[in-house]
Amino acid sequence: MLKELLKEKNLPPFLSREEMLEILQREEYGYLPPKPERISWTETEQFIPNFCAGRAISKKVEITSCINGKTFAFPAYVTIPKKEGKHPFFICINFRDNVPDRCLPSEELNDYGFAVLSFCYQDVTTDNGDFTNGLAGVLYENGKREETSAGKIAMWAWAAQRVMDYAQSLDNLDQSRAFVCGHSRLGKTALLTAATDERFTLGFSNDSGCSGAAISRGKVGESIDFICEKFPFWFCENYQQYRKRETDMPFDQHYLAASIAPRAVYIASAEEDTWADPNHEMLTCVAISEVYEAMGKKGLICEDRLPKAGDEFHEGCVGYHLRSGCHYFSREDWLKVIKFIHKHF
Ligand code: GCU
Repeated sequence: MLKELLKEKNLPPFLSREEMLEILQREEYGYLPPKPERISWTETEQFIPNFCAGRAISKKVEITSCINGKTFAFPAYVTIPKKEGKHPFFICINFRDNVPDRCLPSEELNDYGFAVLSFCYQDVTTDNGDFTNGLAGVLYENGKREETSAGKIAMWAWAAQRVMDYAQSLDNLDQSRAFVCGHSRLGKTALLTAATDERFTLGFSNDSGCSGAAISRGKVGESIDFICEKFPFWFCENYQQYRKRETDMPFDQHYLAASIAPRAVYIASAEEDTWADPNHEMLTCVAISEVYEAMGKKGLICEDRLPKAGDEFHEGCVGYHLRSGCHYFSREDWLKVIKFIHKHF
C-alpha cells in the first residue's frame, strides 16, 4: 500500500547526494553561507552553578566566526556529564536560550548520559524578513540578497555547524554519536544541518512538516503556497516559483532526508498536527528507504499502512514515531528518540 501511494506521487528519482543538495539549496533553502575563514570561542565555566546536582559541567560559549573579513558572534550553552568517558551529544537548535528549557530537558538528558549544546536561533539572525541583522547583516550588503542566497533556515543550519566546530574541540564528546535536533521550523533546520554536514551521525526533526520532513506532493495542511506567503524569508527567493506548482518541482523533501543517508534519520510526528501532515512525514521515511537499502542498510521497518498514534518504528536506520497530542516538542518525543539511539548507537 505505501509503495503504491508513493508511486502515484511520481516523485523525482534520487540523485547523488551532491546533486540533491545542490538542487535543494539552489531552489529551496538558498546556499548555506561559506565556512568561516577563522573561528574561535570563549567559555564561561560553571555558567549554572551546581547544575544537575553537581554532576554536569555547565558553560556559556561565545562562538566568533570571521566571514568575508567581517566578524559574527553568537552564544551557545553547554551541559556535559562530569563522569569519565566520551559522551554522546545533542546539538539543539532552540527557540529560546533557556537551560534547561521546557522543550529541552538538559538535566534528564544529562542523567541519561548525553551532553547538550544548544543555542537560540534568534541569536543568529531574527525570524523575519530583516536581512540586515546578525549573520544576515554580515553576509548581505544593505539586506539585499540574490535568488539563491541563503534564507533564514540555511543561516540557522550554518550556526548549528559552527556549534559542531566547537564540539569537535572537546575531548569528552564522542564524535561518532553526534546528533542534531529541532522542532517545527527548527526541525526543518535540523534536517538541513545534518544533510549538509556529514559530521552529524543523526538528524532528528520533530513535527517539521512542510518544507521539512513531509513530502510536498499531495500534502495536506500547510502548502508551499502558504509557507512562501507567510514565511518567504525562511527560504531563498527561487522557492517562490513553486507556489501551487508542487508537481513541477525538480525535487521534493525526500531529497533532504535522503541526503543524510547512510547516517541515521529520525522523524517524529504528532497525531493532531495535521498542519505538518504526519502521513506525508512518514511517506518520506518510506521513500528514502531505498537509498539506505542501496547502501546496505535498513531503512524504515514498518507495517504496510499509514501511521497511527502509538506507532514507533525503531528497527532500521530511519526511525519514525507518531504520538498522540498536538504540535509540541514533548518529553515523550525525547524518550522515544533516546530509545532509538540506545538501539543503534
Ligand atoms: C508555522 C509554520 C510551520 C512551522 C511552524 C513552527 O505553523 O506554518 O511551517 O513549522 O510555524 O515553526 O512553529
